[in-house]
Amino acid sequence: MKYVLIGAGSRGTIYGSWAHQHNIEIAAIAEIRPDRLEFAAKEWNVPSERCFTDPDDLFALGKIADAAIIATMDQDHFGHVMKALDCGYDILLEKPISPNPKECIAIEKKANALGKKITVCHVLRYTNFFSKLREILRSGELGKIVAIKHAENIGNFHMAHSFVRGNWRNDQLSSPIIMQKSCHDLDILLWLTDSHCTRVAAFGSLSYFKEENAPAGSSDRCCNCAAADSCRFNAYSAYGPILGQWPADVVCLEQTPEALDRALKTGPYGRCVYRCDNNVCDHMSMILEFENGITATFSLHAQSTNIHRDIHIMCEDGEIWADDAKREIIISRFIGSEAEDVVTRTIKVQTNDSGHGGGDSGIMEDFTASLTSNCAESRSSISRSVESHLMACAIEKARLTGKVIELNAFRKSLT
Ligand SMILES: NC(=O)c1ccc[n+]([C@@H]2O[C@H](COP(=O)([O-])OP(=O)(O)OC[C@H]3O[C@@H](n4cnc5c(N)ncnc54)[C@H](O)[C@@H]3O)[C@@H](O)[C@H]2O)c1
Repeated sequence: MKYVLIGAGSRGTIYGSWAHQHNIEIAAIAEIRPDRLEFAAKEWNVPSERCFTDPDDLFALGKIADAAIIATMDQDHFGHVMKALDCGYDILLEKPISPNPKECIAIEKKANALGKKITVCHVLRYTNFFSKLREILRSGELGKIVAIKHAENIGNFHMAHSFVRGNWRNDQLSSPIIMQKSCHDLDILLWLTDSHCTRVAAFGSLSYFKEENAPAGSSDRCCNCAAADSCRFNAYSAYGPILGQWPADVVCLEQTPEALDRALKTGPYGRCVYRCDNNVCDHMSMILEFENGITATFSLHAQSTNIHRDIHIMCEDGEIWADDAKREIIISRFIGSEAEDVVTRTIKVQTNDSGHGGGDSGIMEDFTASLTSNCAESRSSISRSVESHLMACAIEKARLTGKVIELNAFRKSLT
């Protein structure tokens, strides 16, 4: 088995390393940054004649592997996927498919017309946690789902790293946060409800990470900031103690105090969180309606200590509370008319240590197996994944216009 990799950044490295550890050859790499390209080539023994800084040079070789992994940035996916399909590759594609809904549909159409498999990295579908939740709901033990309260708690430091200083800070450079961060959540809601979304309403803004909240005396970089010692977003105290771990490993390739210091003096991650070119929301509240009558509220917010998702599912005959960070699902079944007339049990879900609660290795196992068998459509096939992306676009439209958006009409407006 052989893969080619386009984009050897954080995500590409996770998938490339998984492949290498499972005796899958990385036949070629395209990565625009020479330092990353060299690092990846060395890690996975890729010969220099198969290492490119321009993906077009890789595509010019035609189909030289069983599949292509595309892990470049959001707005580059479309161009890279279309060329990979032309070469004849099946593809593992990082989410978002594209921030542009018309491009999402065009990719789906082309892949289906060519009979090529695209698995979108909706990694949560491959976690034991969400799989268990779905199994409980589908067992019928609590009757049908009636309503859902879902929250994505980004974590205030994660927000500062990824969505204020980092790659996804500005929707013109990547995608709106509802697409970038939460196409996962919308996809999970579709998977759990086993339905289609009919209408959405949304509210939200960038409230906190802006200049008016900067501490007195602060400056545009932590390295020369008089307020750094008392600032909780001081980049030196945030990244210094965790060298070698995420997200310090995103800041610089070489994980030494000297390399970190250089990166914080000149790179994006040493900037003041109150003075970046960020524009994505740091909180959003949404209302969703599904075809089978289920209603859901969804809150996406930066203002939390920890990074976790929690979901409360109200069913006809009971309710479920689940938290992915605690790896815990609490199920209460109603058995009488009194508040105490419930039977409650708690499930502790086992997960492995790979990223996203086991989802990163889960998707690689599934994708790799799908290439060698005539197995059914993947859990996160392109056709299953486009809907969450259209939902994200409709939600952003609802937020910007203040209107309720109907998904059918929204989809029609794209053709
Ligand atoms: N599935 C998930 O849960 C998840 C989590 C984080 C990020 N992502 C997505 O994965 C993608 C990559 O994110 P990342 O965190 O790895 O970012 P990253 O910046 O670490 O990696 C992107 C890599 O692509 C390279 N690149 C940029 N333009 C290129 C080009 N034209 N040709 C070749 N290489 C190019 C960059 O140099 C970089 O190394 C993004 O679309 C992001 O939204 C998904």
